Amino acid sequence: MEKSKSAPSPNSPRKTENAWGRGLKCGYGYTVHENASLLDRTTFRLPARAATLIDVHEFDAVPGLLAEAAQQNRDVLILGGGSNVLFTRDWPGVVLALRTRGLDIIEQHVADRVDDAALVRAAAGEIWDDFVHWTLAHGLCGLENLALIPGSVGAAPIQNIGAYGVEVGEFVDAVHAYDRSAGANVRLDHAACAFAYRDSLFKREGGRYLITAVDFLLPRERALRLDYDGVREELAAMGAGTPDARAVAHAISRVRTRKLPDPSTTGNAGSFFKNPVVSPGLAAALKREYPRLPLWPLPDGAIKLSAAWLIDACGFKGLRDGDAGVSGQHALVLVNYGGASGAQVWALAQRIQRTVLARFGVALEPEPLVV
Ligand code: EPU
Repeated sequence: MEKSKSAPSPNSPRKTENAWGRGLKCGYGYTVHENASLLDRTTFRLPARAATLIDVHEFDAVPGLLAEAAQQNRDVLILGGGSNVLFTRDWPGVVLALRTRGLDIIEQHVADRVDDAALVRAAAGEIWDDFVHWTLAHGLCGLENLALIPGSVGAAPIQNIGAYGVEVGEFVDAVHAYDRSAGANVRLDHAACAFAYRDSLFKREGGRYLITAVDFLLPRERALRLDYDGVREELAAMGAGTPDARAVAHAISRVRTRKLPDPSTTGNAGSFFKNPVVSPGLAAALKREYPRLPLWPLPDGAIKLSAAWLIDACGFKGLRDGDAGVSGQHALVLVNYGGASGAQVWALAQRIQRTVLARFGVALEPEPLVV
């Protein structure tokens, strides 16, 4: 077993005394902030406040904190990297911000399942992009197409993050979580996670599971996935003759930097809408009327459309309404130019939904959690 930073052992909670319940500002594994700003806690950088914000550094503190919140009859919201949430108002309850850290290779060779792969455990609070680069530095591949996605490791399985032809679910061996319904730690294997396009058991079950750590099965070698539009061209522009996984991560980072607004300078949560899936009949009718509309047939016969194209065609790209807007770089990304409120961003999102529905008969579903 190789250790760098220690990941939590997810199935062995320690009993912890809950000092928060006695009015204290910190206890074993957590720190409490009352009436706290959430502006720096989400990539949208919108001005919302939490009545109580608790930073959790040790996962063992969670059951006690949840029990205390239940006793106080207060709603709990779980926050990871804050890259997939839109606060349209203040949160009157408790926000638990998971900041647990730790990365371990827990099995160097899992040869019975995949030729020369390693099993890696990452704590929920690790930063996704840092984790991707850590795996690459350890000679493991698979996650290279997912470089530079904002957010935390614990959030990645919830919406099954995906980019440039890869979805994270492919590499998730198991998810360790605290099941709030059962009041127990659980291990959910790959099948139980029920991954689908921007979807999983964790998303469907709302706030039931609090993800502690994720196990990834990562090969040391595999065929690189370079077919997504623009990836090969970027590698060629970099002069990467025979690219390896690290070169692919570099190329993807360059493409993302160019195509998507940088959340560290312009508040945003990546794609604001999912690409809609429609019936073949509707897709064919739209294609007849709009020959340039991109279509992706799915294995079950349904057709995925490009939400960005639909929004762009309605003239929203680059539109600005006060400090809320649609990115001029990518029509699928809503942005906060600095002083927008969550309600303004949400009003713009709803306007886009209404316009796309009226013009194309297609309902757009938001990708982030809208509070
Ligand atoms: N397009 C437009 N206008 C635009 C941008 C794109 O018409 O402003 C059209 C073009 O025809 C383009 C097509 O949309 O070919 C697809 O665009 P892109 O390759 O950027 O992919 P996407 O479907 O819009 C998805 C993910 C992104 C991910 C990219 C690359 C979703 C909801 N979004 O976007 O994920 O980075 O593919 O794999 O599936 C995210 O989830 O936050 C995210 C950024």
